[in-house]
This record gives sequence, C-alpha cells and structure tokens, in this order.
Amino acid sequence: MKIEKTKTAVAISTGALSGDGVVTSKKALGEIPHLFLDRDALSSMDPETVVYSVECHEAVAAGTRGGLFFGTSTVRPGRVGDEYFMTKGHFHSRRETAEYYWGISGSGVLLLMDESGVCRAEEMTSGSLHYIPGRVAHRLINTGEDDLIVGACWPSDAGHDYGSIETKGFPVRVFCRDGRPVLEEKKR
Ligand SMILES: [Fe+2]
Repeated sequence: MKIEKTKTAVAISTGALSGDGVVTSKKALGEIPHLFLDRDALSSMDPETVVYSVECHEAVAAGTRGGLFFGTSTVRPGRVGDEYFMTKGHFHSRRETAEYYWGISGSGVLLLMDESGVCRAEEMTSGSLHYIPGRVAHRLINTGEDDLIVGACWPSDAGHDYGSIETKGFPVRVFCRDGRPVLEEKKR
C-alpha cells in the first residue's frame, strides 16, 4: 500500500480548482438579461461581459444521495446602472438540503430568502463562513472593486431550482448609493 496523490487540487489563496472531475461554467450579461432592473443601462453594455463563473469538482454524478460537491464561484466587479453584478440565485431542488459558503477574497453580500420571501443579508469577506440552511434561496452580490471569490460545498443531490427565482425574484436588491452598497426592496 502506498500514499497516493489526489488527482484534483484547490489553490488555497484563489480557490481555483484543477485536475480530474472539474467542470466550469460562466454567465455573461446577454444570458441573464432579466436579472437586473435597469434595462436601459443594460442595453448599452456588451452582452459578452462575464458576470460570474463557477468551477465545480463533481466526484459523483449529480443526484447521488450522500455525496458532496465542492466549488468556487467568482462574481466579477461591475454594475448594471446602480445595481451590482450578482448571481442568478437559487433554491435547492431538494429543499431540505443545506450548503456552506466561505469568502476567499473580495467583498460582497450573501442575500438569503426563505420560502415566504423574507430576506436577510450577510456580509461576505475573506474568511467569512456562511451556513445556508435548507429551504433558503441564496445569491451572491459583488459590492467591491475586485473579484468576489467564494468557496462552496453542498450535497450532490441538492440540485438547483432557478425557476422559482426567475418567476418570483428576490424582493430585495443591492444598489450602489453614494459609493456604498444599500439594500432596497424592489420588485421587478
Ligand atoms: Fe446552492
């Protein structure tokens, strides 16, 4: 018996994943036009602008009971009008499943919403740890000048329900007002 090297690595300082089983995805402005409130501002921006990207290590097939997924999300700095760049946000398809997030670098907000639409927000910074309980939707918002890089670990059978967010949305949005992030209740 010998000590084996793993086939995957995570760069501690950047969260970057490399090796076997790593899948990546990214979202550009043109793919998520309904996410932001200011359509006029959006129309003058390059639809190829990347808003966020995700690297994920999937050691098991999606939907596997008892497994875990591990990932790193990077939300780019930027705004559409006064609204900061953010992720789509999601509930888990299996509503009872929870997730850990932790801040690697940058600064931002973790916006959380329960099934009745009640929101709360946690400040994200390097080293902050966030437990997201089941039945709580979650969205990342970059309120800083640099990339917001966030690590995550979640059950492999959690799944992503983006549809509920697309139809109902988060009732709270984060805008830059006088150079500072401010939470405002705004429907689409
Ligand atoms: Fe999640």
